[in-house]
Amino acid sequence: MKSAARDIVSRVISNERIADRIHDIRFALHSAAEPPLPGQFAHVSVPGVFLRRPISIAGFDPASRIARLIVRVAGRGTDILSHMKTGDETRMTMPLGNPYPIRELTGGEIPDIWLVGGGIGAAPLLYAADYISRLAGGRAGIKTFLGFRDAAAAFGASEFEAYGETSLDIGGFVTDALTESLGKKIPDAILACGPAPMLSSLQKICARSGVRAYASLEERMGCGVGACLVCNCGISKDAGDEVSYKRVCRDGPVFPLPEVVFK
Ligand SMILES: Cc1cc2nc3c(=O)[nH]c(=O)nc-3n(C[C@H](O)[C@H](O)[C@H](O)COP(=O)(O)OP(=O)(O)OC[C@H]3O[C@@H](n4cnc5c(N)ncnc54)[C@H](O)[C@@H]3O)c2cc1C
Ligand code: FES
Repeated sequence: MKSAARDIVSRVISNERIADRIHDIRFALHSAAEPPLPGQFAHVSVPGVFLRRPISIAGFDPASRIARLIVRVAGRGTDILSHMKTGDETRMTMPLGNPYPIRELTGGEIPDIWLVGGGIGAAPLLYAADYISRLAGGRAGIKTFLGFRDAAAAFGASEFEAYGETSLDIGGFVTDALTESLGKKIPDAILACGPAPMLSSLQKICARSGVRAYASLEERMGCGVGACLVCNCGISKDAGDEVSYKRVCRDGPVFPLPEVVFK
């Protein structure tokens, strides 16, 4: 699925520090863009930095055209973003990439979808929870598993609780609670985002349980639109032996988890 991404002038309307090095920033979009879907990202221009930085859409309100980005300070670019003030403007190209296949998964039924997020990977899942809940008129069976390295880095748990049962792991393995829950019930699908070791472990767990899973990958990016090949990742179609290289920016960032080849 390819959407019509546009380069949009965006004005910061709020910037709140919600955890250690984590900022929740809301932008008013000056011009019309196709509404983003969960899993898609914005390529954000950072004042004074040459390359744009990819940041997942953590929320979008179609009525007010306000987009929400949750930014973890990882280096110079995200540090500058985290210091943007109300009224500051930047440009972002959005929506980019392929989303989680939520509409295909739900197929008109009330969906039973579980979300697994590690660290900043919880950000795109906040939008997924909101989107699924709206799609199912608030009746979706959303269950969320969150993991953070320490309590200071944790965010979003109370927001996820508004959508359904939420388990929070601090300093351990987010997959432990998930494995326990999968022993009792298999959901329609799992949507995940987080560090590669978490996703690799989740891949094995989902294969054992026979549950469908989709993961959003994070790779370093250059152009963000499929031209520079900086963001390649290995994908083995139908989880077979043959590995091809795909661009996370254009062919992803969301892929069926069984097909991802972890380095
Ligand atoms: C599709 C996608 C969605 C993303 N969504 C979010 C999000 O919602 N919120 C958020 O805070 N971050 C997100 N990221 C990661 C974010 O883009 C990087 O942290 C950011 O580009 C780093 O820029 P910097 O200038 O701050 O740091 P740099 O100085 O460029 O790098 C600092 C450190 O971060 C590492 N790094 C750089 N880029 C990435 C990357 N893409 N993935 C993992 N590590 C990286 C570097 O190796 C280095 O160790 C996403 C990345 C992708 C590809
Ligand atoms: S970032 Fe250039 S091809 Fe993906």
